[in-house]
Amino acid sequence: MFLLFMVWSVAEAKGKPKVFNVMKYGATANGQTDDSKAFLTAWSEACEWEGRARILIPRGSYMLYPVEFMGPCKGHTTVVIRGTLNAPSEAQALFFNTKWIGFRYIDGLNVGGGGTFNGQGVASWPHNDCIMNTNCQPLPTSVKFDFVKNARIHHLKSIDSKNTHFAVFRCENLNFTKVRILAPANSPNTDGIKIGGSQNVGITRSTIGTGDDCVAVLPGSSDIRISEVVCGPGHGISVGSLGKYKGEEDVRRVVVRNSTLRGTSNGLRIKTWASAFASEASDFLFEDIEMDNVRNPITIDQNYCPHGSCNPQASSHVQISNVKYKNIWGTSCSKIAVNLHCSESAPCKGIVLGNINLAHHRDSVGIASSSCSHANGVSYGQQNPSSCL
Ligand SMILES: *[C@@H]1O[C@H](CO)[C@@H](O)[C@H](O)[C@H]1NC(C)=O
Ligand SMILES: *[C@@H]1O[C@H](CO)[C@@H](O)[C@H](O)[C@H]1NC(C)=O
Repeated sequence: MFLLFMVWSVAEAKGKPKVFNVMKYGATANGQTDDSKAFLTAWSEACEWEGRARILIPRGSYMLYPVEFMGPCKGHTTVVIRGTLNAPSEAQALFFNTKWIGFRYIDGLNVGGGGTFNGQGVASWPHNDCIMNTNCQPLPTSVKFDFVKNARIHHLKSIDSKNTHFAVFRCENLNFTKVRILAPANSPNTDGIKIGGSQNVGITRSTIGTGDDCVAVLPGSSDIRISEVVCGPGHGISVGSLGKYKGEEDVRRVVVRNSTLRGTSNGLRIKTWASAFASEASDFLFEDIEMDNVRNPITIDQNYCPHGSCNPQASSHVQISNVKYKNIWGTSCSKIAVNLHCSESAPCKGIVLGNINLAHHRDSVGIASSSCSHANGVSYGQQNPSSCL
């Protein structure tokens, strides 16, 4: 009998997670009352559970002030979000926080459930003066993962973030699947997914329409895989900007496949500042990508200077090498569809253009052109516009 019980309880521990429902911890789900405390208490009990813990956020509307879900936890933690989590709408309430919702120091995390993060950015975007003021106080990121390993983020929606929607920093083996990201084209600094200092990050089967980069890959990132992503509106899929700070880590092995860029200002972009700070950006593969009415479909810009206060004589010391563009087709709404503007001090090496077919949009058979400087490499197959390599 005792043996049977042992067998049963092992099966139970393995098979069924222990559920921590936020409603049992005092969440009101009336969309007005601050539910942060209930969420944090549910989290801390779940995190202490030495098995599989499942935090359940049922359907309904919740109001959350800035919260951080901190590990390490004793077991694997799943967060099932069925409801909508709302940030306070007034900008001031969050001004001195870098993020609204944080996950930190967790190994083994699953966040899903079909729910929504609503950053309620509309009222705070007018307070964003970061374009004019370099000492600006940035608005908070909606959801941030710091030092998180072995995680799945899936079936979730993020709307109207005050700043970046999702940020990934110092993480390892983390996949986004089926996320939907939405903010207006003119919302400032609302990057979709920003990845820095992280290894093995995947983004698949997701749609991102926002006011800044759909995905931004920042220094110290490697083995980043993006596939089946539809991006637009937005500033495209970007690597960088790199070379802004001294001692930046390299970026390596970024693959973007089977994706579509629609009405974005850039398509596939690598951007580096014209500065003395050296680093390397290498091994990129951009394959099977459709461009639909994209302003700069293929672009390397090693003279990145968004606010125009850079030294015109300086050149970038970020070495870009081994960048393959294969099977890229569709329309460009500017005449220069391929613009490889590399650095004089560190010319690009190993660029490959294979089967490129980009028409200038105005009349769908319009002739586009390409422009290269300090770019070395080869091209093969169809080349429309004709290759400048
Ligand atoms: C993320 O996706 C990759 C590629 O499909 C897979 O090998 C890896 O195990 C996934 N990681 C997690 C945490 O699910
Ligand atoms: C990409 O699309 C092609 C053709 O539609 C398909 O054969 C392939 O399996 C897809 N690959 C990925 C990684 O989605």
